[in-house]
Amino acid sequence: MSDRDTPSHLVRLPQHVAVIMDGNGRWARRRGLPRHLGHRAGVKAVRATVRHCGELGVDYLTLFAFSSENWSRPRDEVVGLMKLFLDALQREVAELHENNVRLRFIGDLSRLSERLRRGMRDAERLTRENSGLSLQIAVGFGGRWDIVEAARELAERARSGTLDPAELDEQHLSDSLSLAGCPDPDLMIRTGGEQRISNFLLWHAAYAELFFCDTLWPDFDTDALEQALTWFGSRERRFGRVETLPKEEAS
Ligand code: FPP
Repeated sequence: MSDRDTPSHLVRLPQHVAVIMDGNGRWARRRGLPRHLGHRAGVKAVRATVRHCGELGVDYLTLFAFSSENWSRPRDEVVGLMKLFLDALQREVAELHENNVRLRFIGDLSRLSERLRRGMRDAERLTRENSGLSLQIAVGFGGRWDIVEAARELAERARSGTLDPAELDEQHLSDSLSLAGCPDPDLMIRTGGEQRISNFLLWHAAYAELFFCDTLWPDFDTDALEQALTWFGSRERRFGRVETLPKEEAS
């Protein structure tokens, strides 16, 4: 298929898509439902997004499921979300594995129940050799937390003499962050109408294209994803450089 016949969102597909899934609570409120039903509807949108990214050939998908700040939500909501994560894990892992998805959890998992942590570790172990979509789920994650953890690890290495502080560079820091080994996200999507990064992938978003939409997360379907991908396909990515003009225009 030539570029002319390819749907425009596939001409330049992001290798790594990161998503801030916002709007579950408002989706539920608008229907007169309790918030937890909004989160439950959000799981369906997660499933559709994972499937569609895999089908399109996106290599990496990172989803912000629970932030470090989300621990301050009402206890009922936090407990409900943890239960939802556990249910989703138990229900979805076999199918993800069948579909060749490699699953990874990033974030401070220390406050999660032992049962949930064990489920996450088992899912990672089961899927680690898979070569299809690499799916990162951020739970108890904060971009600042991630950077502090990396700084602590590097400081330890400097103290023990295995790292010369004068040699410290961006690669060392990248390699010490939770997403070590993943390329930076090319496209970061936030649903739900707010336009901020909310302490998600602070280091990694340096050159990400940011796509904000009003769609509430449970309504984020394949059409909404394709809109984001089409928009991405139209972006000129310069990474701080200037535009290169075709030869005759430049002369
Ligand atoms: C933000 O909406 C959403 C969350 C804090 C939870 C995200 C969780 C899911 C989508 C479900 C499960 C995910 C996985 C990976 C199985 P909000 O509650 O802040 O909505 P609001 O801004 O409308 O109140």
